[in-house]
Order: sequence, then structure tokens, then C-alpha cells
Amino acid sequence: MAEISAFKALVVRKVDDQFSASVEEMTLEDLPDLEVTVQIDFSTINYKDGLAIKGRGGIAKAWPHIPGIDLAGTVLASRSPDFAPGDRVVTTSLKASEAAWGGFSGMARMDGGWLTKLPDQISNRQAMAIGTAGFTAMMALQALEEQGLKPENEGQVLITGAAGGVGSIAVALFAAAGYRVAASTGRPENQQYLKDLGAASIISREELETPSKGPLASARWAAAIDNVGGVILANLLAGLHQGAACACVGLAASARFEASVIPFLLRGVKMIGIDSGNFPMPKRYGLWQRLARRLPVDKLDAITTEAGLGALPGLSDDILAGKVKGRVVIDVNN
Ligand SMILES: NC(=O)c1ccc[n+]([C@@H]2O[C@H](COP(=O)([O-])OP(=O)(O)OC[C@H]3O[C@@H](n4cnc5c(N)ncnc54)[C@H](OP(=O)(O)O)[C@@H]3O)[C@@H](O)[C@H]2O)c1
Repeated sequence: MAEISAFKALVVRKVDDQFSASVEEMTLEDLPDLEVTVQIDFSTINYKDGLAIKGRGGIAKAWPHIPGIDLAGTVLASRSPDFAPGDRVVTTSLKASEAAWGGFSGMARMDGGWLTKLPDQISNRQAMAIGTAGFTAMMALQALEEQGLKPENEGQVLITGAAGGVGSIAVALFAAAGYRVAASTGRPENQQYLKDLGAASIISREELETPSKGPLASARWAAAIDNVGGVILANLLAGLHQGAACACVGLAASARFEASVIPFLLRGVKMIGIDSGNFPMPKRYGLWQRLARRLPVDKLDAITTEAGLGALPGLSDDILAGKVKGRVVIDVNN
């Protein structure tokens, strides 16, 4: 492997309580002395990364800081018995950008316990097109199927925030698995995009924001994957079928919601919390293998765009404003 002397990274600095983010040149000596040195090919942007680039959300604890909770690359050097030079590795939804420096960089040093080898079927670029968003969507599918969800169950599978990262991959995954997907979006211009991913119907965000007249609405949903929280979460619970479950993923609208307990008492509905950050490391390789089997590559390509490190400050504004469509892969060497 070629000798690396210098590389670029997006560095967030804090001066007089003001945060700035810019691309800087770094060397290996600038990195912390951790077990595994990874030459990064690609990263991606998640909502949490948008917060970290802006210095918000309590993500970073010290500055200067390199954000990026996801990365995929190749091991350059390792003191960990689990990894050897040349291994292709990935980390998603881990504490990389909190406890140490993250993936918006040409190189990173990590604890071996934060890394997973990638299955041969998934390239480093595809791993970042999937990223934390796709990993989380797969967790939701798995959790709902463990609760008894099957394609033949009555009703459609509702996915909220459908044109975002988690939502887009969830639409593709659930449709490919044979579910009838109802994709909810606040951006009508993305209806055809969602249908192309496999959505059987489009539900406007406004419709889901309108409360039902009583604590129960007519049963429509075989399951739900909720990326937005707030009033939409409360309303969709009232429309779940008997015994159906909602996988609670995100808070794009609000972290709080006020709901009736009646759907739990009279329809036995369930809420399942999805916590990708604490998904056990020994099970991660298996989840990547399931993604390789179940996520159609053509759909993944259709939702993916690419940008360089310098685009990240602008992308952070976009993702925090709910304006990013699908997944953006970051070529960290560009
Ligand atoms: N639990 C976990 O482990 C985990 C993992 C990853 C992400 N998350 C969380 O899951 C959520 C989705 O993540 P993501 O990566 O998909 O983010 P994203 O790409 O920004 O997508 C969020 C989507 O939510 C919708 N939205 C935005 N603002 C809204 C509002 N005010 N009211 C209703 N809908 C709104 C938009 O979809 P439309 O344009 O289609 O309406 C937007 O594209 C985020 O809250 C993120 O923090 C949680």
C-alpha cells in the first residue's frame, strides 16, 4: 500500500463560542494513537453529522474536531488481533465522532472494537451509500419481522420521512421484501422517486399531521417505521392494525409526542425503539450480510449522490432543514 504523508479532513474549530468548519491538510502524526489505522475511501452525511458540523447537539466534547459517524476504508496498520493490513472495514452509527475523530478525513485511527469487516458483496462506496441510515432501516425491518410482520399481514407498511436517508432505504428494503409500502413525504416533488423505489402509495405529511376524531382511527397500517416523531407518531399509532408495531427511529419533526394509550389497550399495538448506536458489535457483520442479500443494488444506486469534503458545511444546513433526498456519499479524497 502506498505511503501516506498527508491527507485532507473537515476540521471543526471553536473560537469564542463560534464554530467554523473547513477542509485542512493533516498528517498521520495529527491523529490519536489508537489501535487501527484506516485509509478512508468514503463517508456519508447523517442528521447527527449535520449537528456536529454546526457544533450543535453536544456531539463533540472537544475541539478541533473531525466529525463523521460513518466511514469505510482499508486497514493500513493494526495492533488489533482482529484486523490486518488490507482488510476492508466499516463503522456506522458508532461513537467515532464523539469519543474520537470520525470519518470526514482521508485517514482515521480507531479502536478495533469500533470496526466491522465488510462482506465481499458490498463495496466501500456502497457501504457508505447504506451508512447508519441503511443499517438502521435494516434493524427496523428485522425488529418488525421478529414481532410477526409478514408481507401477507393486513394493511400497508407506513414509512414516514420517506424521502430522507433512512426512509429511502426503508422504502426500497420493505418493497423488495414484498411489503406494500405507504411512503409519507412532505415534499410532493419526490412522489415519483418514492414510487420508483417501490412505494405502492404516497401519503402526504399533512394528512398524517391531521389528528383522527377519536383515540382510534380506522386500521390501515400493518406496521410503521417512524423517522419523524411528534404529532405524526401519535396519529399513526391510532391507525395501526390489531397487534401491529411501530419501529421508532427518529425525531426529524419532534422528540416529543402526546398520544392516547387506547391503541395499546384496545388494539395491542407496540412501539419498538431502534437504537443503532448500541447494536451489538458481534451481530453487525450478520446485519451487513442481510443488507447485501436484501437491499437491491439498483435502488441503492438510484438514491445515492456523491460530494467532496468541501460540500459538507452546505450539506449540513440542508440535512438539518430536511432538504436532503436519499443518501449522499462523501468522497473524502476529493
Ligand atoms: N434510532 C437510530 O438509531 C437512528 C439512526 C439514524 C437516524 N436516526 C434519526 O432518524 C431520523 C431520520 O434520519 P435520516 O438520516 O433519514 O434523516 P434525513 O435524511 O434528514 O431525513 C429526515 C426526513 O424527515 C422528514 N422531515 C424533515 N423535517 C420534518 C418535519 N418537520 N416534519 C415531518 N417530517 C420531516 C423529511 O422527509 P420528507 O421530505 O419525505 O417528508 C426528511 O427527509 C433523524 O431524526 C435521525 O436523527 C435515528
